[in-house]
Amino acid sequence: MDEDGAIGNLAELSQVIVAAFDVLRSGAQNRRSAFHTPVFSSLGLDGRPVSRIIVLREFDDGQRLLRFHTDIRSPKAQQIRHDPRVSFAFYDPSIKLQIRCEGHAVLHHNNALSAQAWDASQRMSRMCYGTAPAPGDEIHQADAFSLPGDDEAIAAGQDHFCAVVTEISTLEWLWLGFRGHRRARFIWDDNGHVEAVWLVP
Ligand SMILES: Cc1cc2nc3c(=O)[nH]c(=O)nc-3n(C[C@H](O)[C@H](O)[C@H](O)COP(=O)(O)O)c2cc1C
Repeated sequence: MDEDGAIGNLAELSQVIVAAFDVLRSGAQNRRSAFHTPVFSSLGLDGRPVSRIIVLREFDDGQRLLRFHTDIRSPKAQQIRHDPRVSFAFYDPSIKLQIRCEGHAVLHHNNALSAQAWDASQRMSRMCYGTAPAPGDEIHQADAFSLPGDDEAIAAGQDHFCAVVTEISTLEWLWLGFRGHRRARFIWDDNGHVEAVWLVP
């Protein structure tokens, strides 16, 4: 792609959202994509913003759902339970594209969706959910925690496994172009109707 290539030529907001959904979908599917590991932010129990990297597992463009996995014992899960307002920030330097998404997160724990996600997870990923003590707990030295030692212990970790699903209500797209930046915002209402506008970059 040249400096003002395919992305810079998006003249219509309808084209922008299709392209944005494409990069989110391929970000979830492609481990090498920069969109695979966004920053996810929630609100601390005291109201302060808390950010961390997560692995994007799925983007469902029909329902505008972003899914990642976490341990139900983690601080982020507690924060989401307390206040479900969350945001994601993605940036791919190779195409100079930032996407920010806001929405409400739902914790799926011990239900059909979390079971399906667990079944599709790799053994290595499942290992993390069997840590003792819980993620984020203080320990007296760096290695004072254990991982599950056999298949039975790994399977027991499913009790801690949680799929976090966020319905996007706002998406903001920012492209840094050589001949001028471009910025657009999309806001969906409860009926799925979208209000799309260009913004000053
Ligand atoms: C590349 C990368 C991917 C990560 N993926 C996840 C993830 O998918 N889920 C998760 O809970 N934590 C993931 N983490 C760890 C989080 O960034 C964070 O450190 C941890 O979950 C504790 O967050 P919390 O204390 O706010 O709950 C990842 C970290 C890195 C560096």
